[in-house]
Amino acid sequence: RTYDVGYFVGSLSSTSINRTLSKALIRLAPDDLRFTEIPIGNLPLYSPDYDNAYPPEATALKEAIAQSNAVLFVTPEYNRSIPGALKNAIDWASRPWGQNSFDHIPTAMIGASIGQVGTAVAQQSLRAVMAFCNARQMTAPEAYITFTPEVFGDDGEVEDDSTREFLGDFMSEFREHVVRVLTVLPRE
Ligand code: FNR
Repeated sequence: RTYDVGYFVGSLSSTSINRTLSKALIRLAPDDLRFTEIPIGNLPLYSPDYDNAYPPEATALKEAIAQSNAVLFVTPEYNRSIPGALKNAIDWASRPWGQNSFDHIPTAMIGASIGQVGTAVAQQSLRAVMAFCNARQMTAPEAYITFTPEVFGDDGEVEDDSTREFLGDFMSEFREHVVRVLTVLPRE
């Protein structure tokens, strides 16, 4: 069988290094994972006023998660947390109350920064959010990527052997995590 992975890129930048990282991860992932990006840039700002009548963009977001066996977050760090656009998408998906799209979903997170912190602080913030959303998080390995253009090509080629091996191992571990969670908590 194959596993459908919906992935979020936490950046709206047209030159996002995290989008480039997502391309590298898809290239290096096990063959039985199929990836679909879940867009976040078209969502209005969430308000509970929408709970009785979600706009089409938000309904599409929830349907995309429902059709995914697992979700992967590839996100930058903004001011030592996650970007507002990503938090907004998570808030939409977590509601209306009682219809939390992330309940028991297998998930992992990774991110790239231009500095040495490699999104470590943002990921701790995202872990707290996804814990409240009751997602089943891969807690190890962790992946904090310092992005250098010499290593990452625009189409997701990885020029450095140890980085390629590290990212490939991360995706293999993610696959194992997904299989393990789905064994106990199947998603159709
Ligand atoms: C940043 N950046 C950043 N980097 C970091 O390591 N820790 C941080 O807290 C922040 N904060 C931050 C806030 C804002 C508003 C911006 C625009 C940027 C720098 C960040 O790592 C860099 O811009 C990356 O290129 C962002 O990822 P994308 O958008 O290229 O994927």
